[in-house]
Amino acid sequence: MTDDEHLRAVRDRFDDRAPTYDDSAMHRGLAAAVAAFAFASAELDGVDAVLDVATGTGLVLRAFRDHGFAGALTGVDLSPRMIDEARRHLPGAELIVADATRLAFADASFDLVTCVTGLQLFPHPDAAIAEWARVLRPRGRAVTATFLSFDPSRHRAAPPPGFLDHSPFDSVEHLADTVAPAGFRVARTETWTDGADELLIAELALSSAGAPRS
Ligand SMILES: C[S@@+](CC[C@H](N)C(=O)[O-])C[C@H]1O[C@@H](n2cnc3c(N)ncnc32)[C@H](O)[C@@H]1O
Repeated sequence: MTDDEHLRAVRDRFDDRAPTYDDSAMHRGLAAAVAAFAFASAELDGVDAVLDVATGTGLVLRAFRDHGFAGALTGVDLSPRMIDEARRHLPGAELIVADATRLAFADASFDLVTCVTGLQLFPHPDAAIAEWARVLRPRGRAVTATFLSFDPSRHRAAPPPGFLDHSPFDSVEHLADTVAPAGFRVARTETWTDGADELLIAELALSSAGAPRS
């Protein structure tokens, strides 16, 4: 399968799912947990601009807004229909259809990047994570949520197994190894559970020297 075939299949799957995606109590609950986790960090006090990668219907950005976050909200997603849903709920946000590895933002544009249950779907998560390092300001942070344990029977509308790879993010150690080449270290983690799904919420810090630039 080529990268384009992979991206098309994932996009079509989420386009189909867009009208009912918000019915998922698990995804709504996780978005709220991610926002609470982010707002609990003293390091994130000065955040003015947030980029949510694989924003879907914008649940994470909506949870930030519901927490009283008044800074700029930006989201990107591969699926035009997921973005249409996000736009209905977030009229003030900038919401863009784009692949996570091709972000049309200048270097050092954001204080915080979030990516919640997106990484396992990307054909090249390393390239997406390198983009976070590029678009983050010095001392910027990222917050991710990835599956420690994934129960396929609870995610029947998700893309089939060939389109998912949880292994680079399914433990703190694996996540740390995966993000290190882009200049990130794992600064803080929390485990969040919903039924048989167990997720790792993690705050990633850029090393003080900044990300390695090619
Ligand atoms: C399980 S949903 C998570 C949505 C949202 N982050 C949330 O927590 O509700 C995964 C999202 O990743 C998006 N996605 C998958 N591959 C992508 C890619 N290569 N670039 C951008 N978005 C992608 C899908 O379209 C989908 O909206």
